Amino acid sequence: MEKRDLLYDGTAKRIYTTDDEHVLLVSYKDIATDFFGLKMSTIPGKGAICNRVSNHLMTVLENAGIATHFLSESSETDCLVRRVKIIPLAVIVRNISAGAFAKRYGVEEGIVFDEPTIEFYLKNDMLGDPLINTYHAVALKIESRERIEEMKALAFRINEILKAYFQSVRIHLVDFRMEFGLTEDGTLVLADEISPDTCRLWDIDTHFRLDKDRFRLDMEQMDAGYHEILRRLLGNA
Ligand code: C5P
Repeated sequence: MEKRDLLYDGTAKRIYTTDDEHVLLVSYKDIATDFFGLKMSTIPGKGAICNRVSNHLMTVLENAGIATHFLSESSETDCLVRRVKIIPLAVIVRNISAGAFAKRYGVEEGIVFDEPTIEFYLKNDMLGDPLINTYHAVALKIESRERIEEMKALAFRINEILKAYFQSVRIHLVDFRMEFGLTEDGTLVLADEISPDTCRLWDIDTHFRLDKDRFRLDMEQMDAGYHEILRRLLGNA
């Protein structure tokens, strides 16, 4: 598949059109930024790890019956995905308190919830991705109530599959962020990436953080988590 025009140049990845109008090429970079884009650095090998981990998790989900945009891995840092219409809502599912949730409600990190929670954020850089609820999303004509309910159900199913999968390699899936898209025939599919950049992943036994929080919180061994996730999910392959 030939790479054609640059469609999007983000901090963590670039997206290109290809010679097939229904297929895009995603190319992961080694750049890490914090939530506000204030801090930026290069973590060598991060792009390849996020690409390989995300492709692997998308495959695990596909095998469990979840429709995703993933098609194939085309190189260490690149993959091919179905071109979909991205719904401009970021969806966050949480199993354990951490990050913005702990801060917003003034609770400690590490509280295991009786059932998972869900939040939606409007994807809008100028507004700093504000929190949004179903009523507001319907009022803004972003999607219908039915579609949003479908997204919630799909997000919780994805959470159950990934939570169990991470558990099998002694990792807590604390929380993670998803984006969804619609195919031409209106099918809802999981899009974007699922990787240590977009999940909080804690070692079950030591609580060592294996995700991007090491970078966000200026912790030691910034890239250790990324390498450990790759090793546990894919061996040393
Ligand atoms: O900051 P917050 O606690 O809301 O983050 C929840 C989850 O969403 C974390 O796993 C984080 O990595 C992910 N996230 C993300 N990109 C953002 C914001 C959050 O991947 N811009």
